Amino acid sequence: MTSWTGHSVEPLTDTFGRRHTYLRIALTERCNLRCTYCMPADGVDLLKRHHLLTFEEILRLAGLFAGLGVTRIRLTGGEPLVRKDAPALAAALARLPGVETLAITTNGLLLHRHLDLLQSAGLAKLNISLDTLREERFLSITRRTGLETVIRNIDLALASGFDTVKLNCVVMRDVNDGELIDFAHFVEDRDMEVRFIEYMPFGGNGWNHDAFVPYATMLDTLQSVFPDMYRLDDGPHETAKTWQIPGFRGRIGFITSMSEQFCGGCNRIRLMADGNLKVCLFGRGEVSLRDAMRDGATDEELTALIDKAISGKKKAHDGMSTLATQENRPMIRIGG
Ligand code: GTP
Ligand code: 5AD
Ligand code: SF4
Repeated sequence: MTSWTGHSVEPLTDTFGRRHTYLRIALTERCNLRCTYCMPADGVDLLKRHHLLTFEEILRLAGLFAGLGVTRIRLTGGEPLVRKDAPALAAALARLPGVETLAITTNGLLLHRHLDLLQSAGLAKLNISLDTLREERFLSITRRTGLETVIRNIDLALASGFDTVKLNCVVMRDVNDGELIDFAHFVEDRDMEVRFIEYMPFGGNGWNHDAFVPYATMLDTLQSVFPDMYRLDDGPHETAKTWQIPGFRGRIGFITSMSEQFCGGCNRIRLMADGNLKVCLFGRGEVSLRDAMRDGATDEELTALIDKAISGKKKAHDGMSTLATQENRPMIRIGG
């Protein structure tokens, strides 16, 4: 294949040789929670419906990406399951030639309504966000109730036989960093991974150095109680460093985006709900595939736009102190 610069490259490959085979698609910017670390306190302006990619536009782009080598798609949001056609989209995406794995990241509140449909659609991997096991803290972090429902839905998901179920827990000092041991016990008898995520700075999310808890500190806390825990092997594109506590069914992961970034193995690109393509979670460069499509772009023209965006991807993000001063979308408008 020939790139926009005229030289021959593998599709979806950047100038550092990273091949992008994992597409995250944000289905909506809406959410039924209001997590402090994700949504600015004064909310976000909701996109008018016609600014959102339609079902058909998502399918066309996903099909194009799959033709270029994407094998894995993850649905994100906002909360992807608040979009009414999410299960139908999942079914259509799972059937696209080339798509081997379909996954979703959800806050779990609506899962019981969609579990069967998602599973029969071919969705294999489920990541559920949960930052606390205490009801009053759930309310202060998410500004909504619902902890019991989420926990019930985690157990429903585990009983339904998905390939993997993971819990995502964003760790913030003096908010939930006292719950690491409780979360470890949560997976003692559950065949799932809980992943402790370093708090990352995004537009309007209240991030500051004091609230940041690095991997090393989290590991110390856990090792002081579980001295025999040991590291497992992780694949080359994993976001998490995974550990096992002997005798536990579940596993513990750490997503160390800030203290030990994993950009070298990055294989991800993001199609956001408004149709912008973002080639790095922290990159400001975006290109509107929606506008190009609506202006009548052919698949070749879209491919050239995608290729150009990927060729501008930086080797790594700039580090948390710099990121904290840079403009970026709020996380709710990116999708993680
Ligand atoms: P798996 O496919 O199960 O590995 O999921 P994932 O970790 O890719 O996705 P998920 O949506 O569960 O996100 C978990 C955390 O990892 C969130 O905080 C994401 O923002 C973060 N994350 C996901 N992809 C990237 C990435 O490419 N770069 C960085 N820095 N963080 C990422
Ligand atoms: N830092 C780290 N992870 C975040 N997420 C949302 N905001 C942040 C942040 N500021 C996580 C959510 C969700 C995933 C998509 O991204 O917990 O699981
Ligand atoms: Fe909040 Fe984002 Fe989670 Fe939705 S996905 S609950 S907006 S953190």
